[in-house]
Amino acid sequence: MSLGGPARRGLGAPHLHLRRTDSTNDRARILALDGAPHGTLVSADAQSAGRGRQGRRWSAPDGTALLMSLVLRGPPRLLSLAAAVAVAEVAGSGALIKWPNDVLLDGRKVAGILIEGRPQEDWLVLGIGLNVAVDLGQLPGDVRARAGTLGRGAAEIGAIREQLLDRLDAWLAASPAAVLDAWRGRDALLGREVAWAHGRGQACGIDGEGRLVVALAHGGRAELCSGEVHLAG
Ligand code: BTN
Repeated sequence: MSLGGPARRGLGAPHLHLRRTDSTNDRARILALDGAPHGTLVSADAQSAGRGRQGRRWSAPDGTALLMSLVLRGPPRLLSLAAAVAVAEVAGSGALIKWPNDVLLDGRKVAGILIEGRPQEDWLVLGIGLNVAVDLGQLPGDVRARAGTLGRGAAEIGAIREQLLDRLDAWLAASPAAVLDAWRGRDALLGREVAWAHGRGQACGIDGEGRLVVALAHGGRAELCSGEVHLAG
């Protein structure tokens, strides 16, 4: 499913663009703590300390990736899944999502999403890194084997950012049922053997809360709320 209709521009203003920063998520967090409104956008051409999920770093050669973070006040349920659907739409019709929110093209990760903040204060920072024009040969060796790129030009990053803001506007306002439906239509793990820190089994899709349901190798089912899974074997 794809959400169409006229774009409502709620996200992306005010917009702070930096040539270089440590991490756009860190800049956005500072702005959020300082009272920045819902929809505030921080983007950068380069990051010196980009961060990924699970405490990893996020690397992108200068000027070749879309690096952005949004301040969201009153974020929707299923934010992580909705954001992944928005990014996947921008990445292309063949883009799949590896639970919970890695966006893959041809099995390679072209985008990652890092959500941080203070849910108890009803605000979050939604950070997105999308490899638009990345030369994979310039990535650190450990990342290179699994990373992908849109293979577009660096001059297109601004236009792709605008497209993504439009898609985020639509998907963050969509019903949970629509988000789940769209996410399931791009599930990269469905039916595949997966493994994680505490087990392995066959991925059976996501439940209504966005948990990954796994049929365990030795019987029974597991519902994973967070963490990392990888293809087994
Ligand atoms: C992942 O590990 O998959 C999430 C990667 C998120 C990277 C983006 S780049 C923009 C924003 N700033 C950061 O430091 N991280 C996120």
